[in-house]
Amino acid sequence: MKDSFPAAGERFLPDTEATWELGEELGEALEAGDLVVLRGPLGAGKTTITQGIARGMGVRGRVTSPTFIIAREHPGPKGRPGLIHVDAYRLLGEDPDAAADPIGELDALDLESRAEDSAVVAEWGGGLVERLAERHLVVDLERGGPDEEGRRARWRTGGPGGDNERAAAG
Ligand SMILES: Nc1ncnc2c1ncn2[C@@H]1O[C@H](COP(=O)(O)OP(=O)(O)O)[C@@H](O)[C@H]1O
Ligand SMILES: [Mg+2]
Repeated sequence: MKDSFPAAGERFLPDTEATWELGEELGEALEAGDLVVLRGPLGAGKTTITQGIARGMGVRGRVTSPTFIIAREHPGPKGRPGLIHVDAYRLLGEDPDAAADPIGELDALDLESRAEDSAVVAEWGGGLVERLAERHLVVDLERGGPDEEGRRARWRTGGPGGDNERAAAG
């Protein structure tokens, strides 16, 4: 990841536009081999920030919440990395149809080799996708508060075993 994006930080995102903007800044800094883990409950803004990341990377194709697709690849512009958008919701416990062997299913996607010339952004991937890269950026998204419309984003880098500050979740 380029230095243009701080390795750790926190920002209040008052509206959807602000979530896109943070994503765009992050996307501009992402390089091939980077891994971003997005955590937070349903509706926290994980897909929204991924849309901003896609814009910042200049990749092709619309970023959506894939219900049946686990990973979608967005080719990058000439000479720039592509984006692999992983939605691990169906691989993990939150979904009643969650896979019995999520690690096996993840391995079957062969993201490790595909990630050489792409950046990987994973929703619901905490505790599962960290194995794909030596270091990763964890972004936690949550609602600003009971009376607030906005979201709060906190991010930091973590090592291969997840992060030691909190148990990986979401
Ligand atoms: N900072 C924000 N403030 C208010 N609403 C937001 C913000 N960021 C995203 N949203 C909205 O939240 C909704 C759910 O976002 P989404 O990205 O699909 O969540 P997730 O992928 O985490 O389930 C969308 O309608 C989106 O426009
Ligand atoms: Mg989503």
